[in-house]
Amino acid sequence: MKMNQFSSRKCNCLNGIITVPGDKSISHRSLIMGALAIGESIVTGLLEGEDVLGTAEALKALGADIYKDSSGSWHIHGVGIGGLKQPEGPLDMGNSGTGVRLMMGVVATHPISVIFTGDDSLTSRPMKRVTIPLSKFGAEFSGNQEGTLPITVKGARNPLPIRCELPVASAQVKSAVMLAGLNTPGVTTVIEKIPTRDHSERIFNYFGVPVSLNNEEINVTGHAELTAQKMAVPADPSSASFIIVAAIITEGSDVTIKNVGMNPARTGLFDTLIDMGGNITFENKRQECGEDVADIRVKYSKLKGIIVPENRAPSMIDEYPILCVAAASADGETVMRGLEELRVKESDRISVMVKGLNECGVNVIEHDDGMTVSKSDVEGGAIIKTHLDHRIAMSFLVLGMISEKPITADDGSVIETSFPGFTNIMNNLGANIC
Ligand code: S3P
Repeated sequence: MKMNQFSSRKCNCLNGIITVPGDKSISHRSLIMGALAIGESIVTGLLEGEDVLGTAEALKALGADIYKDSSGSWHIHGVGIGGLKQPEGPLDMGNSGTGVRLMMGVVATHPISVIFTGDDSLTSRPMKRVTIPLSKFGAEFSGNQEGTLPITVKGARNPLPIRCELPVASAQVKSAVMLAGLNTPGVTTVIEKIPTRDHSERIFNYFGVPVSLNNEEINVTGHAELTAQKMAVPADPSSASFIIVAAIITEGSDVTIKNVGMNPARTGLFDTLIDMGGNITFENKRQECGEDVADIRVKYSKLKGIIVPENRAPSMIDEYPILCVAAASADGETVMRGLEELRVKESDRISVMVKGLNECGVNVIEHDDGMTVSKSDVEGGAIIKTHLDHRIAMSFLVLGMISEKPITADDGSVIETSFPGFTNIMNNLGANIC
């Protein structure tokens, strides 16, 4: 990845009707499910960001045939559950926690041996949260003491179904276990005390693998046959969030984002912004391929600070960096707590946001488990270290739209992991990023 500085300058209003790229979580899962189904699955709206393309490459190395046609649709010829082959070399999952954790789940119950690695950010993130439950299937993991990448996974030849309670509120861990359960005889059960995004449950059902839910239990019966499907991926609500906050904080803005995923386990930021006084409306609500979808209209709004309910965290876990930006222009204080997980994302998002906000003249207090941001006159003028974190880069570029002096992200190329076209889309709406 090439280092590439981007600066954002104060702009007037944002106006227009746009779409944003496909949902990252659903894109990874569509490729994986397509690769495990027999026959041809066709995916439209796939996010063509580096994270998802990395998962496609990994699945190809494991034997699936995956290509994009001239109309932009992705075709996946799956190998069937149990049909993955030994890859020739290590699988480099780049920056993607979702990619590596889900793929470890898939490999854990195939009789193959796979080395997983990634970039400097991914190789410092915790993997024991997946390797511990996956070893109960009979898979073996070898690597360093810390349990970080690179890790070699020796998949179980005769996997046993497991029953496991999630050690952290994590959809990635839940999904890794569910995916491992696909090639395991009997019923694999995940116990989830705090609900997290349920894209895996939805896409399993969509591909014909019944998932039964019983209070906090998610049950997957192994060796079911996956039916190849046509899948339309909705636009990513997490990517839409950067546009939504940008429109809310720049006077006179009025933006509509079409076809955005509205899975209730993902819409915590929308609820929070509405609680803060944000003018956000949802039009044309519908269901597509097992997911909720709507068009979102957002207008400039005067915000007030709130205490964000801690139990909302899983439904907006990726949105706290951009919420900090909204909070800097909200009257009073916005308190964000219960966010220990933010410390182990692509970067330590609590300390990186606090440092960057301070450098830009925003009043912020760091807590062990979050931050409190107060309304500030944003001075800007800083060069923000993005630490290979796409959401840090995009958040500070949005803050630059209302700051006195430009704000620079030291490396904007990381945005390609999740939101290709971010600067073009923003600039076409009226931003000034280059
Ligand atoms: C994701 C789950 C979340 C989220 C990530 C995508 C997924 O991570 O932060 O961007 O697709 O399952 P955790 O499972 O670590 O909470």
